[in-house]
Amino acid sequence: MSITFHHNNIVHIKNSAISYVMEVVDGKYLVNRYFGKSLREYRLSGIPHYFKRVYNTEHDCSIENVSFDDFPFEYPVRGFGDYRIPAITVTQQNGIEFINPIFKSWKILSEKPQLDGLPSTFAGNSKVETLEILCEDKQAGLQIFLYYSIFDDKGIITRHQKIVNTGNQTLKLQNVQSLSLELPAQDYDFLSLFGTHAKEANINRFPIHYGIQKIESARGSSSPQHQPFFALMSPQTTENIGEVYGFHLVYSGNFMAQVEKDQFGNIRAQIGLNKDEFCWTLSAGQSFTTPEAILNYSCNGLNGMSQNFHWLYKNHLMPKRFSDKIRPILLNSWESMYYDVSLDKIDVQSSIAQKLGIELFVLDDGWFRKENNSYSSMGDWVCNENKLAGGIKKVAELIHSKGMQFGLWFEPEAISENSDLYRTHPDWALHIPNYKPTKGRHEYLLDLSRKDVQNFIIQTLDLYLKNNLIDYIKWDMNRPLTDVNSILIDTERKGEVSHRYVLGLYKVLDTITKKYPDVLIEGCSSGGARFDPAMLYYVPQNWTSDNTDAFDRVGIQFGYSLLYPPIAMGAHVSITPNHQTGRTTSLNTRYQVAKLFNLGYELDLTKCTDEEQNEIANQIKQHKIERNWQLNANLLRNDSPNENYAVWSLVSEDKSQFEVVIFQKFHNPLFSHGKFKLYGLNPDFDYMNVDDKSVFGGDELMQVGLTVPLIKEDFHTFSFKFVKI
Ligand code: GLA
Repeated sequence: MSITFHHNNIVHIKNSAISYVMEVVDGKYLVNRYFGKSLREYRLSGIPHYFKRVYNTEHDCSIENVSFDDFPFEYPVRGFGDYRIPAITVTQQNGIEFINPIFKSWKILSEKPQLDGLPSTFAGNSKVETLEILCEDKQAGLQIFLYYSIFDDKGIITRHQKIVNTGNQTLKLQNVQSLSLELPAQDYDFLSLFGTHAKEANINRFPIHYGIQKIESARGSSSPQHQPFFALMSPQTTENIGEVYGFHLVYSGNFMAQVEKDQFGNIRAQIGLNKDEFCWTLSAGQSFTTPEAILNYSCNGLNGMSQNFHWLYKNHLMPKRFSDKIRPILLNSWESMYYDVSLDKIDVQSSIAQKLGIELFVLDDGWFRKENNSYSSMGDWVCNENKLAGGIKKVAELIHSKGMQFGLWFEPEAISENSDLYRTHPDWALHIPNYKPTKGRHEYLLDLSRKDVQNFIIQTLDLYLKNNLIDYIKWDMNRPLTDVNSILIDTERKGEVSHRYVLGLYKVLDTITKKYPDVLIEGCSSGGARFDPAMLYYVPQNWTSDNTDAFDRVGIQFGYSLLYPPIAMGAHVSITPNHQTGRTTSLNTRYQVAKLFNLGYELDLTKCTDEEQNEIANQIKQHKIERNWQLNANLLRNDSPNENYAVWSLVSEDKSQFEVVIFQKFHNPLFSHGKFKLYGLNPDFDYMNVDDKSVFGGDELMQVGLTVPLIKEDFHTFSFKFVKI
């Protein structure tokens, strides 16, 4: 890994996987020259040629006939000849939206900078070097510091910007992207993850056309509609072959991700805060830091990109203390009790759970509600003792007395109209004076930009955490933001509220997780509505969907596996017919879908027959053995011969063992069998199937493949475990 300067005008950031090269033209224009597979050295190849065009702008630049219309600016602005999407837009005090920052200097930092008030990746046990570039518009009194951090040996560069107002005037930041990247004119496919509640992380892939293509969230949180991620890749790229550029934002609020293909086919890609929902007043002397963006390059297809993200998020983003910690197998009360919780039910369910080997009992929603619905009580985090005599203390003691851990559900950001909290502090809810606020799931949201509200949430959680009653929290958030206003924020700063909400959330999470580092928090937002890298910085696992149907879960987990390692996801075996889809699947299939992730159960155990309970006990026994090596194994998606199959494998770090799970979606006589080439094995190892003892070489399994017969059943799973002999 190195960052080197050549001839004072070129910087080459590289490691064994990637190179990122920029040039300073004429001492002032910072341009991108290359990002991709590692180069030994860059000697100014591939520079575009320009010719004189009519209807073009002219510039003070030594490059003959230069056109700023397709000049590869590293951090572009509009206003003097580049009409493509700008990375930064600033309005000066005179009301004019214009800045002209030019290159000033660069230097190397031997560390990974942390971002003020924002979650970001950290160096951990790896070496990291950072390039800091300063661009300046002296006239406006504006400095832009651009940061590029490179980790050892992986195709990852992290990016963010710091904007400083060094002058005397007040500046308005209208748009400030976390990264902008120029890619050469070529055909690319765009890939993103779209979805909705209960059907998150669907794959959206299409060829890029001329003009702008954009995904975004304006919902105040990262949302299930679009993950703050996209990838650009060659149209030929598959799971395992081809170039991919991945972009992911470490942020939980409004974002935008866009790509512009200009008239010559050049590509500009950006990701950052959603400019339509943002305007930040930067007074003299103040600075603003953008969220961090992750730039990921792989020449080994989508799996290569996923391996980079998984590595980064497991080792350099999620809390270190949890990245190598086996997660307890849990029983969650939601689908068995919903709001109607009682001490008796908890006692019965947890006794069976304990007998089956479950390690953590999670009491979901309902415990504090006045009635068995979602119309009241949000914000009044007091246990309803009519349901649970003795309160949470009693429940926790009961669970602990059975040798299990105890977890509790909260939705700390919400407030019901029918709550003592709302009656006392109506102003604490996000609202616009003189307008009736909009409810979502019958609730409002607290104004997390306020310090008093942040303190209220911290103190509330403190009450439950300080007595060691709780080992796990499910941190839910069940609605998007509306009425985005804080009555404490001045008129000229109203455009800051949604970002300040997110900063407030991070402040609360930071305080709680620092004070109670051993409490495991699982993020949830009606499932995966706020599953993003920023949340992962605080909460090491996330509930991916309210849809617990095994068939649908394959797709959801498949989508999320593009970005997140299995240890970041919770997956539960639920009752059948499934409550969301009515689909019936075997207990074995439900387990096969959940077992490669943080395993849990979410069903009424009293309704399981003895036979089913035995099967669950065996699953748990098996999982407790396998999870030890699975903790640090790599999750790979294998190419499938057709869409009827989805195939995962989990390969141990040293490649000495692996598990393959194949999902046959439908019985379709058009196929005689499924044949799958496996990836990520050691070609020189011989592997034995632990069930039938058959032996295959790693090369054979990767080049020829493994076959499974067509089974006359919809949604059938095959599972194989191989060990090196
Ligand atoms: C959300 C969550 C569910 C459950 C309910 C409780 O929908 O995603 O898992 O916790 O809230 O109200």
